[in-house]
Amino acid sequence: MSKATVIDHPLVQHKLTIMRKKDTSTGGFRRLLREISTLLCYEVTRDLKLTTETIQTPMVEMQAPTLEGKKLVFASILRAGNGLLEGMLDLVPSARVAHVGVYRDHDTLEAIEYFFKSPDLLEDRLTIVVDPMLATGNSSIAAVDKLKERGAKNLRFLCLLAAPEGIENFEKAHPDVPIYTAAIDSHLNEQGYIIPGLGDAGDRIYGTK
Ligand code: URA
Repeated sequence: MSKATVIDHPLVQHKLTIMRKKDTSTGGFRRLLREISTLLCYEVTRDLKLTTETIQTPMVEMQAPTLEGKKLVFASILRAGNGLLEGMLDLVPSARVAHVGVYRDHDTLEAIEYFFKSPDLLEDRLTIVVDPMLATGNSSIAAVDKLKERGAKNLRFLCLLAAPEGIENFEKAHPDVPIYTAAIDSHLNEQGYIIPGLGDAGDRIYGTK
């Protein structure tokens, strides 16, 4: 039984439907992705711990709530993950950003890293790994492998669409990393695309097809 959280907010579902439509333009898709990622970010961070600090309002001193701990890390799985970053950074401008370029070799199943840049002290931060599509789960699993190798211990995975196959694979590999998604679709086709899906997320964000 999957523990994935489906973010069923009506605005998320409405925007996702427009993004799925094949005639939605590149500009429209990108704008919607920015809007929807803000809403997804709101949900994935809703249980963050708070502490208090003493502040001075124009009237009095008070104990006011503030986020506890070190700055968050948003880890983008290249290249489509970058499409989710902008909206998330609109909401949490102080977040640090990691970029992970990784794929799994089909024959050896070894995770091949072609790019990795992250802030320090990953072990002390919440890392939210982002990729619009959780399809086979191979690249997401590999990216989380790499972040854990660099010290990350507290991770969440955020996507727009997930396939049941990808959720199963990911949860098997990383049972400690909760998945958040706007929808769980029917299945993967033979080419590894999510059905009904929205096509190739990278191509739709960047207009490369
Ligand atoms: N990656 C995509 O961009 N789309 C899919 O449907 C599956 C993987």
